[in-house]
Amino acid sequence: MIEKIKIQLRINDKDVSEIAFPELTLADFLHEKIGLRGTKVSCGIGVCKACTVAARRPGQSSFERIQACVMPVVALNGCDILTVEGLASSQSLSLQQQSFLKHFSFQCGYCAPGFLMGVTLLIDQLKRKPIKRENLDKLIEENIGEHICRCTGYAKYYQAIHAIIAETPGLVV
Ligand code: FES
Ligand code: FES
Repeated sequence: MIEKIKIQLRINDKDVSEIAFPELTLADFLHEKIGLRGTKVSCGIGVCKACTVAARRPGQSSFERIQACVMPVVALNGCDILTVEGLASSQSLSLQQQSFLKHFSFQCGYCAPGFLMGVTLLIDQLKRKPIKRENLDKLIEENIGEHICRCTGYAKYYQAIHAIIAETPGLVV
């Protein structure tokens, strides 16, 4: 018989304690145990990046990219997790969200949480290590280029991401 395991996480600045089967993915944990359904599952095999969330391991200062559809939640026990629900404040959308709206980046929006978390991780990285402006296009391609969108031509996503990074002080030098 497979034993359930106690899971303790901090999700979007709230402590969470639950029990779960070891094979439960982070995506299913968020949807079924926590009621956070903003993280989308599309391919379910770690390819399309729709399910991207950010996780910070105990003692680490930076977040890492996690594909929630393939990551067992037990592998993240003790981590600090940021999902798309944690981006906006009670007063306003995040700058990333505002930029996606301003540039009409998405249509159905199914891929949008993954793109939002992708750019959030990129901004987190740039806050610690700014990049030269002439290398920004390549960096966006490297970090966001694997996200799949079935509706748009990617150009408006790219424009929104480029704008938010270029316009935020301290990210490019
Ligand atoms: S749904 Fe996780 S990578 Fe596609
Ligand atoms: S906007 Fe529909 S999949 Fe990207």
